[in-house]
Amino acid sequence: MAETTELADLAREAAGCTRCALAAGRTQVVFGTGDPEADLLLVGEAPGRDEDLCGEPFVGRSGKLLDRLLVEELGVDRRRCYIANVVKCRPPGNRDPRPEEIAVCRPYLAAQIDLIQPAVVVTLGNFASRLLLQTDQGITRLRGRSYPFGHARLVPTFHPAAALRSGGEVVAQMRADLVRAKHLLGWSSEPEAGVVGPVEVDG
Ligand code: URA
Repeated sequence: MAETTELADLAREAAGCTRCALAAGRTQVVFGTGDPEADLLLVGEAPGRDEDLCGEPFVGRSGKLLDRLLVEELGVDRRRCYIANVVKCRPPGNRDPRPEEIAVCRPYLAAQIDLIQPAVVVTLGNFASRLLLQTDQGITRLRGRSYPFGHARLVPTFHPAAALRSGGEVVAQMRADLVRAKHLLGWSSEPEAGVVGPVEVDG
């Protein structure tokens, strides 16, 4: 419960954040939602218009797809996970977050990870994957495997907005990545295709 309180304290602190210029244009800070003791943390890019108005990550079209894939591939709804973004305030016109915005917002995500201590982190798209894996490589090259991430494993996948844009193959790859996360979480009774033995050995 200590983590729950600390996360709520951090959310209160973030609600008044003026560390970067995004503060001037936001309706509210979109800190993150879900179970503060979740085994699965999902990290997106930045809030869009719907999230800025509602105060919760992934409530627009991307979020609807994400919710559907969570149910269909992991058998869970979002309340069993924690969902956050790299940047907690909406960039104007939904432009990409800038390096200086990511840099000043980063301690919030780092603290969320420290407090939640997830077993698996799924990064959605280039921004979250590059930031947490400390790499310049793009998501197309990064995805398809898991990586060590402190005491956790990190599974990079496409952003659901890319899946909405590109359709079939990208959605299929997201599904495969979520199945990978499910195995790492121990939530699957099925053996993982192509993996001999219970443990993923890469990284
Ligand atoms: N896209 C994101 O990356 N995060 C959200 O919360 C919504 C859309």
